[in-house]
Amino acid sequence: MEPFSATRSSTVTAGSPRPGAPGTSDRHVLVAVAWPYANGLSHLGHIAGCYLPSDIFARYHRIAGDRVLMVSGTDAHGTPITVLAEQEGVTPAEIVERFNPRFHEQWERLGVAFDLFTTTMTDNHREVTHEIFRGLKDHGYIEARTTDQFYDPAAERFLPDRYVEGTCPHCGAGDARGDQCDTCGKTLDPIDLIDPRSKLTGATPEPRPTEHLFILLSKLQEEVAAYLASREGWRNHVINWAQGFVREGLHDRAVTRDISWGVPLPDDLELEGAERKRVYVWFEAVIGYLSAAREWAQRSGDPEAWREWWEDPDAESYYFIGKDNIPFHAVYWPAQLMGNPSLNLPTNVPANQYVTFKGAKASKSLGVGRAVLDYLEVFGADELRYGLTTNLPEYNDVDLTDEELVRRVNDELVATWGNLVNRVLAMTRKNFDGTVPEPGELDEEDLGLLETVDARLRSEADLLEQVELRRALKEAMAGAQAANIYLNAREPWKTAKTDRQRTATTLWTALQAIAGLNVALAPFLPFSAAKLHGWLGLDGTMHGAGWQRPEVVAGTVLGAPSPLFAKVELPDTEDA
Ligand code: MF3
Ligand code: ZN
Repeated sequence: MEPFSATRSSTVTAGSPRPGAPGTSDRHVLVAVAWPYANGLSHLGHIAGCYLPSDIFARYHRIAGDRVLMVSGTDAHGTPITVLAEQEGVTPAEIVERFNPRFHEQWERLGVAFDLFTTTMTDNHREVTHEIFRGLKDHGYIEARTTDQFYDPAAERFLPDRYVEGTCPHCGAGDARGDQCDTCGKTLDPIDLIDPRSKLTGATPEPRPTEHLFILLSKLQEEVAAYLASREGWRNHVINWAQGFVREGLHDRAVTRDISWGVPLPDDLELEGAERKRVYVWFEAVIGYLSAAREWAQRSGDPEAWREWWEDPDAESYYFIGKDNIPFHAVYWPAQLMGNPSLNLPTNVPANQYVTFKGAKASKSLGVGRAVLDYLEVFGADELRYGLTTNLPEYNDVDLTDEELVRRVNDELVATWGNLVNRVLAMTRKNFDGTVPEPGELDEEDLGLLETVDARLRSEADLLEQVELRRALKEAMAGAQAANIYLNAREPWKTAKTDRQRTATTLWTALQAIAGLNVALAPFLPFSAAKLHGWLGLDGTMHGAGWQRPEVVAGTVLGAPSPLFAKVELPDTEDA
């Protein structure tokens, strides 16, 4: 066994304040985002769980000039897809093909900017999956074994994990699924369920011998433990869960199944009846992060470019997931990568807890909570992003209501930031013909505001590096509050009648502050940030402009602004 080496993949560099200089850095940041099942669009729970956080994090790094690669796609092969296909009498591939374009629309409307959002149904993904198998096999971590799997005598077929339900052998919960118990979070082998029943027919499934490939996790125990011990800056709930899970002992796991929908097995692994078997969905879905990076590279015209994120030991990788995915990303995926030692292990797995709506987890399978596209009928995208970010379940489950989202938007976003921008732009229009005035000499109060904005940008960057997104947004909003306090003290609406020079200096200073705060808010509010960036006469996109306050040049003619945000009003329906 190759010993784990701490240099193999980078540790977290969190906490180092960003140098503000524009241009590109040579930091490579892989933003790996959980692959949604292709059986339905996302609910607010999913968005707050991983899609919005990953996008905020990626946007921050892009502004700072880092090389970001943000990938995901639809998870095509799980039971949720085959169940829906069977219900509708269509093929699973048709389900994936139906939902994949709708996911693209959803991401576009919400401003979640993947570099590639693909699916696990591609030839590329199959090939990369086979490579991972080969690496594990070559290192002696894959072995064929005869094992008992559940067979449904009524349906005359082997049952995929999620087609078996029963009592959890670890915590006794009565509704554990064959692959995982939602109550204690442990991954399961269906054969270990107490009082198992087939979801297909309700029959009691029978164990039957069948040959499968196993990943020998027992051999990787120490290496996985050493990997986890070397991580820095992980959220307590993630590292504690993962280390506790490993401490209880890793067991060898079957990574193939007797099913017809999934990634076919590599030809060179001799296994009885291999053509009737497929790769276990959780084994191949996580490989999607690697296969998507390679597909992105192929599409970008530089097929080797993915290596900069995967093989350079200084590259960083962040995996954005919900807490039910912790075992697969913090334990099994690192283990799978250990058969291919040139590939980087996850730098951090900043898993979120759950968003609940009055106590029930917001998930597609439970049918709780509405689709995010429904919310976008009522909320602007930035408005929804703001309301969700202030409620991200980074440390605890968060029980969300529509009223809470509305309150955050109307009482904070619009009142503090939207009004600040509107007021300053309107006063500049009224008093200086919409042209950025030439300032006089700045006094302590003017300089104080600009220093506050710069300091907030720095402390916000520290928090963003640590994936503390809620607190990062608070820093930015505190900067906006400081600008409001400054304006209220300076009263440019009054000085406009008495002291034109003072008014010019005040508005110039406020415009500089707004430009800095717009950078601070851009990861969270990409649509309004791009608009305001243009209104302030700042060139190009914000990518690579540097995590710093840009200068709004005196003499610039400001764009013709309309209100940045709209107050939200809930529609008058019963369940609103
Ligand atoms: N489809 C899974 C879920 O929704 C997540 C898969 S993440 C992956 O829970 F990395 F495994 F793809
Ligand atoms: Zn359990």
